[in-house]
Amino acid sequence: MNFIKPVDGKATTAKSNQKELKEIFPHTYGMPVVQFVEGETEPNTEIVQFGVILSGGPAPGGHNVISGIYDVLKSANPKSKLYGFLQGPAGLVKNEYIEITKDLIAQYRNTGGFDIIGSGRTKIESKEQIESSIENVKKLNLDALIIIGGDDSNTNAAFLAKYFIEANLETKVIGVPKTIDGDLKNNYIEASFGFDTATKLYSELIGNIARDVNSAKKYWHFIKLMGRAASHVALECALKTQPNICLIGEELAENNWTLKQVRDYIVDIILKRSQNGEDFGVVLVPEGIIEFIPEMDQLIEELNDLMALKGKSFSKLKTTRGKYSWLKRKLSKKAYALFESLPERIAIQLLMDRDPHGNVQVSRIETEKLLIHLVTDRIKELREEGKFTGKFSTYAHFFGYEGRSAFPSNFDANYCYTLGITAFLLATYGYSGYIASVENLTDEVKYWEPCGIPLSMMMTMERRKGKMSPVIRKSLVDLKGKPFKTFEKNRDEWAIKTSFRFPGAIQYFGNSEVCNIPTKTILLEKGDKRKERKNNTK
Ligand code: FBP
Repeated sequence: MNFIKPVDGKATTAKSNQKELKEIFPHTYGMPVVQFVEGETEPNTEIVQFGVILSGGPAPGGHNVISGIYDVLKSANPKSKLYGFLQGPAGLVKNEYIEITKDLIAQYRNTGGFDIIGSGRTKIESKEQIESSIENVKKLNLDALIIIGGDDSNTNAAFLAKYFIEANLETKVIGVPKTIDGDLKNNYIEASFGFDTATKLYSELIGNIARDVNSAKKYWHFIKLMGRAASHVALECALKTQPNICLIGEELAENNWTLKQVRDYIVDIILKRSQNGEDFGVVLVPEGIIEFIPEMDQLIEELNDLMALKGKSFSKLKTTRGKYSWLKRKLSKKAYALFESLPERIAIQLLMDRDPHGNVQVSRIETEKLLIHLVTDRIKELREEGKFTGKFSTYAHFFGYEGRSAFPSNFDANYCYTLGITAFLLATYGYSGYIASVENLTDEVKYWEPCGIPLSMMMTMERRKGKMSPVIRKSLVDLKGKPFKTFEKNRDEWAIKTSFRFPGAIQYFGNSEVCNIPTKTILLEKGDKRKERKNNTK
């Protein structure tokens, strides 16, 4: 029988802020990347207690991560136990948990959502929260705690690993890369789970709208897509559906575009299509673009700092007029001028509460409606000047939540199960402060390679709630990378010549090339390993 063994690579370093990170994480900074290979090590069959937390926004496949952990833990020793903390990290702080049993997990295998134990966004940071987490881990005598989450949740994991070591606890902490946003990736993490399913589902819906608009030929649809700061979701959906316009936040930032320039770019395409008699189209808008438009970003940064430091006095202001005049006194001139120029409804949305990690809740800002507002006003002006004679009617959509709890694609179902097993292996082999990873994902499942990446090498320092703090580095769209370059090469043609594609529903059974195909993003980034293998064996 073949067993596996972990093999440690070289010591690692973070990309930036090495000195600060080393000081903050003295025990876990610099640890090696670990790979699991075939070996002779006997499996560990001791009775163990593991805890698991689902953290942040749901992503398809989370239940399969828990299934993977459960199956391998019980197969190593049926007396071992797996506990699930309820409603995210808050469950650990309050000691609210359930035991994951055979009957319970059976109801959730291969399903979407995080409802088996619920999820939440609590950031464990106060002295009391840290102390009660340590206490509760001791009470359950946990050998390991597995945190399934995105960048903020894995930042939580890195800190818990540190606190547990400092408290002389043996409990290992392992993260699992989750987020539909696709921004938790790097040289070692090829994709976060959930991105595959969510983008397939959104692309089905965008394709349906594109087919409808191509039939009736009378509307412009502005579709905002989830994805928080990064534009990976929109880019992947654009590659799949070939819309007339897809804004990429990272590009707007690089080119220093103003809101007015974004508006003019859209209007120009509307005009050109109208001249061809096509008064219809599809525009994809990543939900995070407002943070990429430098003037908006400056306004948001100033608002973030203001709310973090003076939020209490602001919350006492009851009238909109009172809020505007308070902000006029506190914001820089430039930021206030922009704030004042926005439609009131959108301006007020910028003031909504930040999440517990200090992020603006971009899903709640109606950027698609802001763009419709700006574009409609401009079209009206052009019509008055006799420069636009076509028709212009719009619809706004937001696709987000419907993708987070969809039934996982075959890719996500397999990937998540493998991540669960990998997380278990890392913890049982004594690693802590790591995130589970699987390499070679564009190949067949049997060639996938499980490994572990130190969380500390993925961190950087960012301004949060008014002060610099260590966080997991987000991966943004690489403007030199193949996915963006492919889009850039084609977008001018897709803008003017209707070229929509209609991907249809996620397929689960049938030809492997249809039902197991990963995202265009990962295929362009990593190459299609299945194809390469086939070509090499010819
Ligand atoms: P995480 O995976 O990073 O937790 O976030 C995913 C996400 O769906 C974002 O795309 C979106 O901006 C955010 O969650 C919405 O958050 P909430 O569920 O709190 O409304």
